Amino acid sequence: MVNKDIVWHEASITKHEYHEKNKHKSSIIWLTGLSGSGKSTIANAAARELFEEGYQVTVLDGDNVRHGLNKDLGFSDEDRKENIRRIGEVAKLFVEQGTIVITAFISPFKEDRDVIRQLVEEDEFHEVYVNCDLETCEQRDPKGLYKKARNGEIPFFTGIDSPYEEPEAPELVLDTSQNDRNACKNQLVEYVKTHAKSFGK
Ligand code: ADX
Repeated sequence: MVNKDIVWHEASITKHEYHEKNKHKSSIIWLTGLSGSGKSTIANAAARELFEEGYQVTVLDGDNVRHGLNKDLGFSDEDRKENIRRIGEVAKLFVEQGTIVITAFISPFKEDRDVIRQLVEEDEFHEVYVNCDLETCEQRDPKGLYKKARNGEIPFFTGIDSPYEEPEAPELVLDTSQNDRNACKNQLVEYVKTHAKSFGK
């Protein structure tokens, strides 16, 4: 509940002015998928390429945000919900400021992802399913976390003893078990450009 004594201030620079300056639209490109599916790698590689081509772009990444803004949160269902809620609000601020924000969070719950979709305008939220089966993620195990989870050292690990709800109608699917990361990055970059261009870039 917002305190009734807090009054909203209109920004002096509008989102559309930022779009005109950047010559592209801003939006949230919401990557979701299991740990080890390739979200962060693809997000960062795509952002690098877009940046070099002149796009105003940033990445919000699960592990990094949990070092700062969300370091008070763990991995209970409730904490994950709060994690995603805060990221959504931060992502919205970036959108208001003209930035394409690529987020890389497991974000396992459909309901929480849908809340973010509702937070912004209709064409400003794009759900991207980074699809990789559990077996492949577990084989990759880039941080050794699946091994720990199997040994009972990490409770509530997504895919092991905490659920992951697949997106039902994502705007884009990147299949990282079938395609290499570079191909997935290219697919994402093309998608982002096509959308951002609809403004006029
Ligand atoms: S989310 O579920 O709340 O969206 P988030 O993307 O922020 O998760 O963080 C996931 C990262 O935290 C994983 O990539 C992994 O490195 C680490 N991690 C630590 N504990 C867990 C856990 N119990 N379940 C999933 N990931 C975990």
